[in-house]
Amino acid sequence: MSNTSFKNRDIISIKDLSNEEINTLFSYAKKMIPYAKGEKHLKTLEGRILSTLFFEPSTRTRLSFESAMNRLGGRVIGFADAGGTSIKKGESLTDTIRMADAYSDAIVIRHHQEGSARLAAEFATHPVINAGDGAGQHPTQCLLDLFTIVTEKKTIHGKHVVLLGDLKYGRTVHSLAYALARFKAQLTLVSPETLRMPKEVIEECREQNVEPVSTTSLEKAIKDADVLYVTRIQRERFPDESEYKRVAGTYKIDLELLKQAKEDLIIMHPLPRVTEIDPAVDKTHHALYFKQAFNGIPVRMALLSLILGGRKP
Ligand code: NCD
Repeated sequence: MSNTSFKNRDIISIKDLSNEEINTLFSYAKKMIPYAKGEKHLKTLEGRILSTLFFEPSTRTRLSFESAMNRLGGRVIGFADAGGTSIKKGESLTDTIRMADAYSDAIVIRHHQEGSARLAAEFATHPVINAGDGAGQHPTQCLLDLFTIVTEKKTIHGKHVVLLGDLKYGRTVHSLAYALARFKAQLTLVSPETLRMPKEVIEECREQNVEPVSTTSLEKAIKDADVLYVTRIQRERFPDESEYKRVAGTYKIDLELLKQAKEDLIIMHPLPRVTEIDPAVDKTHHALYFKQAFNGIPVRMALLSLILGGRKP
């Protein structure tokens, strides 16, 4: 496969990329690490402009896309709150997209509606990257999650990954469960009964010949886990606040629980965390979530560089 296959591509779902393409991307991302840290400098995307359109809150995704573009010598325009745009005057999403398309070379979009990024891609002539569409997909988070597992564990194949928390509304776990199945991980899904993984995602795992085990018991699942992927209960997506209150705080990762874990267990979290990981865990060698968040930069640098057709690092 040639690297040119990434050029001008939309990234709406992790399904848009083959395993081979993901591996190619990861070898680029690995090379990007010293540039991502600012130890070396690149001007690969000098003169190029990225739009970041964030209709929903974001810290890591927006800042790491912006940092990645800047580290590549490119520039960024956009907004972190649609309240300051003509959307407030009643402008449609598609007209907003047309404008960003006219003003930049690629668009990163986060929007509360499922399918919004796909719609944006239909209207934009330039590549569109989905940075989260409601409870739908978050493909670049999935890429940095996979990159983190591969970097720490050498391979995904055969590793026991536990996905924990809000598997119903958490978009990061939807992309990730499917991708992990495609890379042949062993999956355990731990959630409250009401926040189970959607049937379609389980079906997609089965199509990859991976049968996820579903349980509500974290104690059972943690014992032979290689990776524990924790998620926040997605309060903003509950139709009813009392339903949120019923499940909030169901799981908490603390030092006591970790006594049952394997010595080399890694704990990941897309962040932000609320109460699901005790800060005392941060100091243990299990805590990988801040490194995982950093990995967003080299992975997004590699992706932007390949999509916008920059030279190799
Ligand atoms: C996640 C998201 O926005 O889906 N955060 C992220 O992008 N790192 C997870 C969350 O909000 O809980």
